[in-house]
Amino acid sequence: MTRPDGIRAVFLGPPGAGKGTQALELARSLALAHLSTGDMLRSHVARGTALGQRAKAFMDAGQLVADDLIIAMVEDRLRTDLADAGWILDGFPRTVPQAKALDQSLRSSGRPLTHVVYFAVPRTELMSRLTGRRTCSKCGAIWNVTFKPTTVDGVCDLCGGALAHRSDDRPEAVGRRLEEYERSTQPLLAHYRVSGCLIEVDASRVPSQVNDQIVAALRRNAG
Ligand code: AP5
Repeated sequence: MTRPDGIRAVFLGPPGAGKGTQALELARSLALAHLSTGDMLRSHVARGTALGQRAKAFMDAGQLVADDLIIAMVEDRLRTDLADAGWILDGFPRTVPQAKALDQSLRSSGRPLTHVVYFAVPRTELMSRLTGRRTCSKCGAIWNVTFKPTTVDGVCDLCGGALAHRSDDRPEAVGRRLEEYERSTQPLLAHYRVSGCLIEVDASRVPSQVNDQIVAALRRNAG
């Protein structure tokens, strides 16, 4: 599939809406860079960096990590390897201060956002998606014991790696993440509606249909 030019997209939506699933697929099929703040933070935690040590307790509790830490981490990446390629930001921004920092940073580089894709899913569906999620500890592929099972239980179909259950996918942490989303992240919809690049997709459909909606929207609005 050829890549629409100049895509600089944000994927916005509640935990479990399918942002990571779609970002991985589109990064592959459209040759876009994929920047997931959740993945970056989990990598810091696994490596035991100072940032990882500060972030871990917040992540396990289903709370957001402080804006200043996240903004510094993302801007670092935007300045370096993501500067020229088309990209998808998955899980950032998640607060109004993060969105304003991103606006400012992209404005000064002369490369504003082209798309903000909002993943709409009823809250009732999110709990079962998240508690059933399994992630490959080797290649990062995302599976689900109900919606996308592997052939052999606990083993990644793609690379044979062991599947892990994220510590923040326990039901009590999921509940807190959903509340945090409604309090801190949902207000971004109003922020981006004003900018005119907000696109809503029905993310309660099967993954291939969600993908079709996003590809059509990226092509329609491509710069
Ligand atoms: P992060 O890793 O970003 O988690 P999240 O936003 O809560 O999103 P998820 O990864 O849970 O869901 P997703 O939408 O990607 O769904 P997925 O595709 O995996 O953040 C983790 C933590 O890090 C935060 O809680 C916070 O502490 C911290 N953090 C990260 N960014 C931050 C920031 N900017 N500021 C502050 N703190 C930050 O799919 C979920 C499941 O559903 C999978 O099993 C999948 O197979 C299945 N599925 C996907 N699509 C479908 C479908 N269409 N139908 C059925 N099942 C589906």
